[in-house]
Amino acid sequence: MSFLEIQSLRKVFGSTVAVNDVSLTVEKGDFITVVGPSGCGKTTTLLNIAGLQTPTSGSIVLKDRDLTDLPAYKRDIGVVFQDYALFPHKTVGENIAFGLKMRGESQETREETVAEMLSMIDLEGYNDMYPHQCSGGEQQRVAVARALAFDPDLVLMDEPLSNLDKKLRQSLRTELKRIQRETGVTTVYVTHNQTEALSMGDKIAVMNGGNLEQFGDPQTVYEQPASAFVANFLGQSSRLDGTLHLGDEPFVRFDNDAQLSIKRREGFDDGDPVAVFLRNELVSVSATQPDVENTFSGTINEVDYQGRDVIYYVTVHELDTIVQISGDGRGTVFDTGETVWLSVRPEDAIYTAPDRSNGDTDRGAAQQHLEVEI
Ligand SMILES: Nc1ncnc2c1ncn2[C@@H]1O[C@H](COP(=O)(O)OP(=O)(O)OP(=O)(O)O)[C@@H](O)[C@H]1O
Ligand SMILES: [Mg+2]
Repeated sequence: MSFLEIQSLRKVFGSTVAVNDVSLTVEKGDFITVVGPSGCGKTTTLLNIAGLQTPTSGSIVLKDRDLTDLPAYKRDIGVVFQDYALFPHKTVGENIAFGLKMRGESQETREETVAEMLSMIDLEGYNDMYPHQCSGGEQQRVAVARALAFDPDLVLMDEPLSNLDKKLRQSLRTELKRIQRETGVTTVYVTHNQTEALSMGDKIAVMNGGNLEQFGDPQTVYEQPASAFVANFLGQSSRLDGTLHLGDEPFVRFDNDAQLSIKRREGFDDGDPVAVFLRNELVSVSATQPDVENTFSGTINEVDYQGRDVIYYVTVHELDTIVQISGDGRGTVFDTGETVWLSVRPEDAIYTAPDRSNGDTDRGAAQQHLEVEI
C-alpha cells in the first residue's frame, strides 16, 4: 500500500459536484502539486484529506490507517492556507509551538523545536514578535514552521504563496522546496499556477471540473498530456483539430486538407478525430524555407517583444489559423507583415482526443488571443 491513498473521493454540495471520484496515491517523501482552474475542486480535496470536511463518499488512507472517521486534530496532518491564518494574539514562537503544546510536549521540547524551526525558516530573533509585526512573506514562513513543528506525517498547503508578490513568491518557492527536502515530509501543495506546479512537484495532479485529468511526473504530463484540457492548460500552445491517418508515415489532416506529419501514439486508431497542440517553443520560425518536414509559410501578424523572448502571432496560410511562437529576443526579430516559414518536428506535434465539450477552457491560446484582438 502507498503512504497516502485517496480512494474514489467525492464531495457534493447541493447540486454542485466539487470533487468527482478522485483517486490518487502518494509515496512517502513525495512533493505533489495539485493544479487546475478556479473552482475545479483543489481546496475541497485538501479539506477532505485534512478532515476539515467529510467526504460524501470515498476514503482517505494514510499509513495503512483509514482516516475517514478520524477528527482533524487526530490526523497528524499539518496545514498551511493562503491567508496565513496565524493566531493574531500569540507570538511567533507560540504560534509555532501550538501543535506541540496541544500534544502536551514539555516546555523544554517546545523551546528547542521552536528554535530549530526559526533557524530553518531563517527568522531567528522573531520568537517574541506578533504576526502583525511580520511581513506577509514572514508570516507565511511562520505558518509553514507551525505546520511542520509537530513532525506531521503529511503537510497540506493551499496556495500558500498566492498573496505574495512575484519576486517573494519565487524565493519562497525555492525555500519551501529546500525545507521539504531537508525534512523529507510528504507534501500535497495546491496552486493554480502552472509554472509553480511543474517546477515544484515530483508529481503533478491536474484537476478540471472536480475530476482528476492526469497524475504523473511533470515531464510526462507536459509532454504526453492525457487530454486536450491538460495539453491546453499547461504551457502555451495553439490548437488545431483534424483527423488521424495512420499509414507508414502517419499524419493529421485538417479541415482545409493541410497535413501535418506526426509520430504514432498508443491508444489512437486510424480515422480518430484529434486535437493537435503546437507548443510555442516547439515551432521554429525562419526567414527562408527550411529543408525539413512540416513547413508552412506565414505572415507575422503581431510581435510581442519581451526582452529575452519574443512571441510572434503568425497567420499560417495553409492552416488558415494564427499560431503563437516563442522566438529568441536576442536573435533575429521579425517585423509585423513579414513573410516567414514555420516548421514543426513530427515528434513535437502533441495530440490528444478532442475532449468532452467543456467550452472555452480547452480552446487554444492563440484563438483566444485572436478573439480579444477582434
Ligand atoms: N462549502 C461549500 N458550499 C457549496 N459549494 C462549495 C463549497 N465549497 C466549495 N464549493 C464549490 O465546489 C467547487 C470547488 O470549489 P473549491 O474551493 O474546491 O475550488 P478550488 O479548485 O480550490 O478553486 P480556487 O482555485 O478558486 O481556490 C466550486 O464550484 C465551489 O463553488
Ligand atoms: Mg481553492
